Amino acid sequence: MEEKLRQLKDKALRELERVSDLNSFRDLEIKYLGRKGELAEILKSIPSLNGEEKKIFGALGNEIKNELAKKFEEKRIFFGGKRERGFIDITLPGEKIEGGHLHPITLVQNDLENIFTSMGFMILDGPELESDYYNFEALNIPPYHPARDMQDTFYIARTDADGTGVSDLVLRTHTSPVQIRAMQKYGAPFRGVVPGRVFRSENIDASHEHTFYQMEGLMVDKDISIDNLIFTLKQLLNGIFKRAVDTRIRPGYFPFVEPGIELDIKCALCGGAGCPACKHSGWLELLPAGMVHPNVLRAGGIDPDIYSGFAFGLGLTRLAMMKYGIEDIRLFNGGDLRFLKQF
Ligand code: DAH
Repeated sequence: MEEKLRQLKDKALRELERVSDLNSFRDLEIKYLGRKGELAEILKSIPSLNGEEKKIFGALGNEIKNELAKKFEEKRIFFGGKRERGFIDITLPGEKIEGGHLHPITLVQNDLENIFTSMGFMILDGPELESDYYNFEALNIPPYHPARDMQDTFYIARTDADGTGVSDLVLRTHTSPVQIRAMQKYGAPFRGVVPGRVFRSENIDASHEHTFYQMEGLMVDKDISIDNLIFTLKQLLNGIFKRAVDTRIRPGYFPFVEPGIELDIKCALCGGAGCPACKHSGWLELLPAGMVHPNVLRAGGIDPDIYSGFAFGLGLTRLAMMKYGIEDIRLFNGGDLRFLKQF
């Protein structure tokens, strides 16, 4: 073994001495130091030797390998004039590149978008930094109206170029302002959904976050009734859960709809028995909705004597929690890969 190693070394050094250009140098490097080169062939048999021999020849093999690597490197510099980043064995298999994947909220959002585009709804975006007017006033919530207390708002101070300060901006507390923007831009008839990120100044716990997702829906046309609304909401739930889910409908108050309803689904986490996620009621508020208030249609430039409409404000984050059985809302924005990789 020792003999073999030394012979190989001498032979390699002799040939290295004679090599006259970079290309033949590279061939030689592969021949002796490559992954399937002559040195590797000999080294391969070392692990099967007995204890003492393994130690001796292992050390010798390494020594010779390092010595040859050094000499080859010197020669490379001699030919190339500059040092390359070591030997690249192009026969090695490539590194596995880890594929990314979609966030659970995005998965649910994509499903919803498919359901709604199949029913002829368009998909819209709106600004996350919104004016007080669109976020509240145009939605029938004037300043000082107690309904403002329903949403803990981040008011944003703005300083204009002339130095005067105003605070007519808010981080939007819901996706509803896009109802007004959509009506102003597209008029009636209209059908659209608005998935998006919204913000509230919340005390954070397992079911409250300062940043979460909603999906607004709006349909305006002649003779739209609450039947159209309920049918659409049920289509939505069947499409997402792909099974029958228990629902109940209660009256609900929102200034921008009249009448307003709350569609609850039976809590998927506890099956209706009661748990912290459903505040021990067995039901979860998932889909607040209603018939668009005439003042809101007017703010959107639509005549409420001719047109009517329905709107809903789906809790996208909450829906994702129900669909996947996620018990803590903080996981969504936490960035913990152990959580995210499960989807
Ligand atoms: N924007 C409301 C919220 O975030 C939810 C909502 C209720 C939206 C009723 C609607 C609706 O479109 O009709 O609390």
